[in-house]
This record gives sequence, C-alpha cells and structure tokens, in this order.
Amino acid sequence: MLLREAILSAAGSRRLESVVTRVPVTRHVVERYVPGAGLEAATKAAGALTAAGLRVSLDFLGEDVDSRDKAHATVRAYVEVLDRLAEAGLTDRVEVSVKLSAVGQALAIDGEAVARENAAKICAVARRYGTTVTLDMEDHTTTDSTLSILADLRADFPSTGAVLQAYLRRTEADAADLAGAGSRVRLCKGAYDEPESVAYQSKRDVDRSYVRCLKVLMAGDGYPMVATHDPRLIEIAGALAARNHRSPTTFEYQMLYGIRPTEQRRLAAAGATVRVYMPYGDEWYGYLMRRLAERPANLAFFLRSLLSRS
Ligand code: FDA
Repeated sequence: MLLREAILSAAGSRRLESVVTRVPVTRHVVERYVPGAGLEAATKAAGALTAAGLRVSLDFLGEDVDSRDKAHATVRAYVEVLDRLAEAGLTDRVEVSVKLSAVGQALAIDGEAVARENAAKICAVARRYGTTVTLDMEDHTTTDSTLSILADLRADFPSTGAVLQAYLRRTEADAADLAGAGSRVRLCKGAYDEPESVAYQSKRDVDRSYVRCLKVLMAGDGYPMVATHDPRLIEIAGALAARNHRSPTTFEYQMLYGIRPTEQRRLAAAGATVRVYMPYGDEWYGYLMRRLAERPANLAFFLRSLLSRS
C-alpha cells in the first residue's frame, strides 16, 4: 500500500514529472516502451516494425478524461493517427487500440453513451482505411459496459476487437460468448489490482485460467489474439493452434513494444502472425506511473524486461 501511495503521489507531481522526463536515463528507459511522443515518431516506429514483418496496434496515451472536450480530443488524436498511417501506406498492417475511458466512458453523465458514440467515430475512420479497432479492457467495474459497447459496435463494425482478462473468474464464460465467427479476441492475463471476489490471485490460477480460455477461443470460429510474453503460454498456444488445425493467418501473438523483441521477431520469422502493441503520446509519464501503481508487480515486469535479452 505504501509503495502504491508513493507511486500515485509521484504520478500526480508535475514537478517530479518535469525532472524525471528530462533525466537522460529516464528518457532512455521510457523510449524502450514508448517510441516517442509525437505522431511522426509513432508512424516511423510502426513503419520499422512492419518492415521487419510484424504488425502493430497503436494506443494513444491520453490523460484522465474527465470532460466531453477531452474525450473529443482523444477521438481527434485517433483520426489524426489513422490519417497519417494511411498516408504512409501502413493501414493493412497497423490497427489501433482504444481505451473506452479515454473517449468518455468514465464521465458521470451519459459516460457509456458518449464512449459508444466516440468509439464508433474511430471505427468508421478505421474501416474507411481498411483497418480495425480493438477495445482495451480496463478494471473489472468497466467489463460489462465495455462488452455492451463492443456488442453495439460489432453490429456496424464486425471486425471490432475485444480484450478478455484471464485473471477474472468470469472470463471463461465471456470467451465462450465471443468465440464465434469473425470475432477478434485478445486474451491477456490482466493488469489491474483486482479483488479476490472477482479475480484469481495467484500466478498459477491465472495461468490455468488463461489456458482454459485459450482452449475455448482456439476451438471456436473466431480470431484469437494471444497477448502474453510468457514462454509457456506461447508454447501452449502453438500446440492448441495445431490441434485445432489453425493456420498462422487465423490467430496471432501479441506483445508489448520493447518487451521480448527478440522473441517477437523469432515467432514472426517462424511464420507466425505477431502484433506489437505500441503506446505513444505526450502523456506517457502519468500513464506509466499509474500502470505501476495499479499493480506494483508491473514494476518487476518492466524491470525484468530491461535485464532480459530474449
Ligand atoms: P507475466 O508478466 O506473468 O510473465 C510470465 C512469464 O513471461 C515470466 O515468468 C517470464 O518467464 C516471461 N517474461 C515476461 N516478461 C519477460 C521478459 N521481458 N523477458 C523474458 N521473459 C519474460 N492488460 C489489461 O488489463 N488490459 C488490456 O487491454 C491489455 N492489453 C494488452 C495488450 C497486449 C498486446 C499485451 C501483451 C498485454 C496487454 N495487457 C493488458 C497486459 C497484460 O494483462 C499483462 O499485464 C502483461 O502482458 C504481463 O503478463 P504476461 O502474460 O506477459 O506474463
């Protein structure tokens, strides 16, 4: 709790932010996970990854969205990046990931409706350019709302992707609901600090749930997106794909930008479809600190990746 409070108070400190973001070592570390603040840096990094045979999902880092104006600003940022990707000829390999909270879901008045309408605007532009949108999943209090918005969006934009978190006890049932034809589902372990009433707490239980959910998705008719850096789960995913006679175009692996880059390239070189999730934008400081505070174990996750070369 103390660590969490310290990180959260650091996240809110503008003074600390201006010091931290200027120290060369911090910039070096952050650049490993966020390839630059601006649109140009993000487009360039996406171009380099696609040239190396990878696909990309871009995530615009916005601050806490507590007004309709800020939600609209997020929509504009996504439209801008989609325009830029189209100009660069990248929209056949680069999609976008959207957090519904960044387009208004948390607003006290009509949040869900505002988020649905804003997400639909982004989906319409993505479709115009022949690419897709995946809705990130946030903490468990938003799961029902996010899945309901997803269902509405899929009526008009069937390729809209979902994210399911294996640590939630409900997820095996959600995976069964979303395993139908045309359904794109990213399965991750889950990154928020959730109570025992709704989420498995031990790594072993989360991993077991991941395998159960993956079995459901791989046996279904949808398009599973296996989002993990865990070597054991990656191996199991490959075995399940083979057992279900899936070709590499019918599912994909996904990893975060800067985490296990060698493994990303190894899988792609072996013929797998691999997508790199790439956050970009000015607001990386607050974003990174909040992700660390939500679950201090995330700190160990990032530190390990700094030491690992695989
Ligand atoms: P975990 O952190 O449990 O690590 C498992 C094992 O992987 C380790 O024991 C080690 O063997 C290996 N490993 C991990 N990092 C390594 C490294 N750097 N080098 C070598 N080995 C390493 N969460 C969420 O709640 N909502 C969301 O929308 C998303 N979206 C999302 C998209 C994508 C593409 C990814 C990859 C992840 C997410 N997440 C997410 C985050 C996810 O829920 C989770 O917090 C992290 O991916 C960490 O979990 P892992 O499955 O990677 O395994």
